[in-house]
Amino acid sequence: MLSYSKISPELYRDAMARYAGHVQIATADHDGIKRGVTVTAACSVSDNPATVLVCVAKGNAANRTFVEAGAFALNTLAARHQPLADVFSGLVPMDPDKRFEQGVWDKMETGAPTLADAAVVYDCKLVEAKDVATHMVLFGEVQAIRLGESAPALIYLNRSYHTV
Ligand SMILES: Cc1cc2nc3c(=O)[nH]c(=O)nc-3n(C[C@H](O)[C@H](O)[C@H](O)COP(=O)(O)O)c2cc1C
Repeated sequence: MLSYSKISPELYRDAMARYAGHVQIATADHDGIKRGVTVTAACSVSDNPATVLVCVAKGNAANRTFVEAGAFALNTLAARHQPLADVFSGLVPMDPDKRFEQGVWDKMETGAPTLADAAVVYDCKLVEAKDVATHMVLFGEVQAIRLGESAPALIYLNRSYHTV
């Protein structure tokens, strides 16, 4: 077994690569400016009131849209959505507006873009945004949930996509 005491960003990333994460697209819409980011750094905080968090890079100016909108949605992806994950991670280069022409998007309560056939949608009001190191941690109180059909999940592990 290997253990290390000095935590460089590279070591940290190698360690996190061994952590399986469900892939989601975090979205927001501020006065018609839409933002969508492929994320795995998102999780449950509490069930009462229903609360989630997502971490988005502070250095990316486009991520200010999440704060300005005051709301965001977490769209949990099924395996068949991998092409969407590639668009919203920037792997497939596309103008920000064009990204939302991929897939079918609608709105629920908050106005954040919601993926019509997502495995799950958590539509959230932003209740707190906290800067921590390189990221903004966005806490959302869930205003509405949409459960999609049960389907194989899109998981990111060892720097590649997997289906569970
Ligand atoms: C599997 C995967 C997970 C990611 N998770 C996050 C995340 O949790 N938070 C984040 O800010 N960026 C994450 N990213 C990176 C963003 O998707 C990417 O940097 C961003 O969409 C680039 O945006 P831009 O092209 O609009 O600048 C992830 C990328 C991939 C491929």
